[in-house]
Amino acid sequence: MMRAFLVYLSQAAWARKLVTRFRFARQTARRFVAGETIEDAFRAVTDLNAIGMLATLDLLGEHTNDANAAAEATRRIADLIDKLAASELKSNVSIKLTQIGLKLDEALCEKNLKGLLQHAAQHGIFVRIDMEESACVEATLRIYHRMREAGFENVGVVLQSYLYRSQSDAMDLLQQGTHIRLVKGAYMEPPDRAFPKKTDADDSFDHISDLMLHESTNSQSSHNGHVAWPPIAAIGTHDSARIEFAKKHASEIELPKEKVEFQMLYGIRRDLQAQLVSEGYPVRVYVPFGTEWYPYFMRRLAERPANLWFFISNLVRK
Ligand code: FDA
Repeated sequence: MMRAFLVYLSQAAWARKLVTRFRFARQTARRFVAGETIEDAFRAVTDLNAIGMLATLDLLGEHTNDANAAAEATRRIADLIDKLAASELKSNVSIKLTQIGLKLDEALCEKNLKGLLQHAAQHGIFVRIDMEESACVEATLRIYHRMREAGFENVGVVLQSYLYRSQSDAMDLLQQGTHIRLVKGAYMEPPDRAFPKKTDADDSFDHISDLMLHESTNSQSSHNGHVAWPPIAAIGTHDSARIEFAKKHASEIELPKEKVEFQMLYGIRRDLQAQLVSEGYPVRVYVPFGTEWYPYFMRRLAERPANLWFFISNLVRK
């Protein structure tokens, strides 16, 4: 119930207007967001690299509602890619397609993405396409396939284990050597599209991670210059049981550790991130930054009720 309400609030314009007016909300969001500027984000990545972790940078923004705003977001992501290329940071970039026009016009979104991939490819930078609500999945995968047909190798996608379709999407994508980040899924989905029970989404997660790890036994490890590319299998979760499952299975099939990348969100389970690094696994932290933090922040509150009490106690103390 609470989760559904918070996910609803994450998309409600009135709630965004209300919450973002308060300085304490911005301060609380800083637990999950590296800051508002590229400089803030680069400082966070520098700190992560110093302790042996990789990063993926996300310029926050989604559901852009006019073509000019989509063009501006595309320009700003291109600028991020330029600055990343000029740095020594070990990071790639994550993008939401609704930020660059998916909900306005698929052709426009495709054109914007193509420009960004060309730009990133010139610098050897990998781009991950995040997965948004289920209404976007078909178009997102369609665009991904068109990018591969156009010859881009520096691109991967995200699959959400709570969707019934994801197991079959995984088999299809793995046949084409797709770099997949597997996550549970952060949106509210109807029972005809997604497992209503968390335990079923967890079982689906293990099943898809199993498929990804198997496929990885045949893949070449791809590292490109100073920017580490992710392997085929990126396991995106903070759930110790899912992580243990993947580790155990990878070890059973004698998959080298560098072929299993664990990915986590900035500010969440830093202890577990550090533990995995000490065990020799690649760990990549998703580092969001920018002024459009509201929906991202609300999804993080929705994932864990304790975060909400942290937020409310901050509010009460003000
Ligand atoms: P689960 O929710 O079961 O949490 C397991 C444990 O992790 C909790 O017990 C708690 O300790 C900790 N935890 C989880 N969330 C927390 C939070 N918000 N605050 C504090 N602790 C928390 N989703 C999506 O739909 N599309 C996408 O593209 C992405 N991209 C993405 C990238 C990366 C790198 C990650 C790690 C996650 C995503 N997600 C995502 C989000 C994902 O779908 C999911 O909502 C969150 O990862 C939370 O689920 P867990 O797998 O961590 O498990």
